[in-house]
Amino acid sequence: MTATATARKMNYDIADLKLADAGRDRILWADTQMPVLNIIRERFRKEQPFKGMRISCCLHITTETANLLRTIKAGGAEVLACASNPLSTQDDTAAALVKHFGISTHCRRGEDRTTYYKHLNAALDFHPQVTMDDGADLVSLLHTKRASQLKEIRCSMEETTTGVIRLKAMAADGALKLPVVAVNDADCKHLFDNRYGTGQSTIDGILRATNILLAGRKVVVGGYGWCGRGFAAKARGMGAIVIVCEIDPVRAIEASLDGFEVMTMAKAAKVGDVFCTLTGNTSVLAAEHFKSMKDGAILCNSGHFNVEIDIPALEKQARKLDRNVRPGVDAYRMKDGRSIYLLGEGRLVNLTMAEGHPAAVMDMSFAVQALCTAWGAKQKNLECSVHAVPKEIDAEVALLKLASLGITIDKLTAEQTHYLSSWQEGT
Ligand code: ADE
Repeated sequence: MTATATARKMNYDIADLKLADAGRDRILWADTQMPVLNIIRERFRKEQPFKGMRISCCLHITTETANLLRTIKAGGAEVLACASNPLSTQDDTAAALVKHFGISTHCRRGEDRTTYYKHLNAALDFHPQVTMDDGADLVSLLHTKRASQLKEIRCSMEETTTGVIRLKAMAADGALKLPVVAVNDADCKHLFDNRYGTGQSTIDGILRATNILLAGRKVVVGGYGWCGRGFAAKARGMGAIVIVCEIDPVRAIEASLDGFEVMTMAKAAKVGDVFCTLTGNTSVLAAEHFKSMKDGAILCNSGHFNVEIDIPALEKQARKLDRNVRPGVDAYRMKDGRSIYLLGEGRLVNLTMAEGHPAAVMDMSFAVQALCTAWGAKQKNLECSVHAVPKEIDAEVALLKLASLGITIDKLTAEQTHYLSSWQEGT
C-alpha cells in the first residue's frame, strides 16, 4: 500500500497532508542528532516491548517528538499523537507522521481551545493502556471527564516540571488515580533539556521573532530554576546584561554568585529591555510591572503555560492591540504612548517562535522517556503515585550518550571503591 493510501485509512486531523515530504526530511535530519534514541529504537524493534498495546502521546509535535513516536511504534505499539500546546505544532511534522510513519495524529498549529480538547479526547477515544503527557493535560482529562477509563491505564509518563508539580499536588490530595513516572526528574532529562535545551531554544525564539541585538540589552529573567539558569547563561553569552528575579532565597544567592544582578521584578520592570518568564507560576509579569516598563519593552514566556504574563491585565492597560507587527509579535499600544511587545501570545517562545530544543538534547530526554515507557508498560500493579525514574535508566542513557560523543571516563579503582565504603579511615 502506498503512503497516501495508508494515510487515507488512518484516523487523523492535521492541517495539510501535502506538507508530509518536507516534514519527513526534517524528521530524518533531527534523527541524525539522536544516536541514543536510534540505539533504543533498534533494540525495541527486536524486543517488541509494546506488542499489542495502544499508546497515546500528548506532546509538542516536533521533529524530535516524531523520532520518539517512531521508536515507540518500532517497539510494537499502535501510537496516537496529539499536541500538548495549541501553538507548538509543526504542521509538516504532523503530516509526515500520518503519511510516512503510520501514526494517527490529531493537531493543527494555532488550533482553538475547542479543537485542542477535541484532539485530546481523540487520544482517549483510542483507549490507550499507556499515556504520555507534557503538562499533564491527558491525565487531567482522564480524571475530570473520562474517569471510567482510568482503570484501563497501566501507567502514564510526564515529561515536564509543570506537569510533575501538578501531579504531585494531585497525589498529595489523594486525587491521583493512576501511576505516573516523573520523566522530567531524571538527571538525564532536567539537567540537560531544561538547562541547555531551554537556554538555547529560548534565545532562538526571541531572535527569530524579533531579530534584535542582544548585546548590551538588559535581559530580565523571571525564575532561576534549571530553565532560568540555562537562559540567563546563554543571554550573557550573547553579551546581554542579565538581571534575575527570584522568590527563593537560595536560588537568589546562587544567581548573585553566578554573577547576575538580582532584584525584585518591580525594580527590574523599570530598566529591562527584554523580559522572559521561566517559573511555572502565574502572573510573574503583572499589571503593576506593565505600568513602569520602558517604551519598546519585549515580553515573552518560556514556562509551560501561558499564565506567567498576565495578558488580560496587559490588554486592559492598552489602548489598542496591533497583532503581528512581525509574525508572532503583538504590539500593545499603551494609553501614554508607549508600546509593549508580546511574543508568541505569551506561550512557550522557544516552541512557538522557534523549533524547541535541539535534537541532540531531546535525544537524552526522549531516550529516558522511551525506556521509562517500556518499564511502565511491563508493570502490572504499580501504586497510584508519582514514581521516580529507575536509576538504571538514567545511568544507561548517560553512558550511551557519552559513547555517542566518543567520550570515555575513568572507573573507580578497587582501592577507591573500598575507601568510599569505609568509615574507619580519617585524618
Ligand atoms: N520541548 C522542548 N523542546 C522540544 C522539542 N524539540 N520537541 C518536543 N518537546 C520539546
